[in-house]
Amino acid sequence: MKNLSGKQIVLGLSGGVACYKAAELCRALVKEGATVQVVMTDAAEHFITAVTMQALSGQPVYGSQWDTRQPNNMPHINLTREADAILVAPASADFLAKVAQGRADELLSLLCLARPAQRVPLLLAPAMNREMWAHPATQRNVAQLRADGAVVLDVGRGDQACGETGDGRMLEAHELCDELISFFAPKPLSGRRVLVTAGPTYEAIDPVRGITNRSSGKMGFAIARAAREAGAAVTLVAGPVHLPTPRGVHRVDVVSARDMQAAVAAAIAQADVFIATAAVADWRPAQSAEQKIKKDGSGQTPQLHFAENPDILAEVAQSERARSGALYCVGFAAESHDLLAHARAKRERKGVPLLVGNIGPATFGQDDNALLLVDAQGATELPRASKHELARQLIAEIDRRTPGVAGKS
Ligand code: CTP
Repeated sequence: MKNLSGKQIVLGLSGGVACYKAAELCRALVKEGATVQVVMTDAAEHFITAVTMQALSGQPVYGSQWDTRQPNNMPHINLTREADAILVAPASADFLAKVAQGRADELLSLLCLARPAQRVPLLLAPAMNREMWAHPATQRNVAQLRADGAVVLDVGRGDQACGETGDGRMLEAHELCDELISFFAPKPLSGRRVLVTAGPTYEAIDPVRGITNRSSGKMGFAIARAAREAGAAVTLVAGPVHLPTPRGVHRVDVVSARDMQAAVAAAIAQADVFIATAAVADWRPAQSAEQKIKKDGSGQTPQLHFAENPDILAEVAQSERARSGALYCVGFAAESHDLLAHARAKRERKGVPLLVGNIGPATFGQDDNALLLVDAQGATELPRASKHELARQLIAEIDRRTPGVAGKS
């Protein structure tokens, strides 16, 4: 099942150089299963052709309210009645001003005004020069649009086509696609705060060498994303991994187990749910050399001595808030065999209500996985699926098990 299967999206383009990203966005939406109807303003057609957008969406593009292809000659009505959402990307400063004022002198602003507002949400992805974005007139329009019920998405930060640097770039195509997927997702965790640990830790031997493990962080990142999609405020404490931060998630990067422990300690008081997916190194070199350890030519190997790392999950699970039920703790177990027995034993040992088992070698670095959920009631299998899909199922399972957790409405 794709993330936007069955969804009908009107993709509007107003005039801006970010139109080039709309082509990629259209492709991404179609790939996720959406049916995309493109509507372009005249200005947009200066930046990208309708031919490109037609080829990518597989649908004729509309550009004029006088288009005679609709039998009743009312494209502004017909194109929105079956739509699940209108997404205008790019939304120029002029276009925002127009919609904020309820003007309707061309097809795209006309259909924004004529849409059944209760049923067809309007999402706007602003794209403009940083001065235009910061201008009080634009900010007034954005505030008005939000007050009128439109979803005005964030802008990106960075180099702009004009050569300046600052706020106002349109979000990237994959970010907009994620925003839309997240927009449609149910929000059972709304008002709740979730803290996730993810990835491996790295324990230094000297400044250039260290001990780590093969955890890719993908499962933890997928869980952070799913929790965010479900409406939670999410903090993700990540060991050294090369993964993009899920949209809307607050990320804290750490290196060692002790860094992770400190980051968790700093954030745990604000969490209602703690999900420990990180593959924390159990031991660290007792001493980390200040300088690179050199071969001395004698053939002798260095002797490494280890110290045990703090057990972050067990510590959190023993806290007052966890024991009183105000904080719900979920542990993970990466095992190589006897999953059920190990997961049961680990749940007891860590003192957590829910332990999620998986077979480490079969999942490290992969995009899919299978999970075994063990709680006081017994074991539930989540069969092999993509990590994103499993993450959503796990979040739903956590939601079902936490009716009394603080913050839940
Ligand atoms: N964990 C943790 N801190 C540690 C070790 C583990 O927070 N120092 C958490 C992991 O994030 C995971 C759970 O504890 O949620 C289980 O981790 P795992 O490494 O499988 O368990 P261990 O306690 O290390 O047991 P063993 O290595 O003997 O299987």
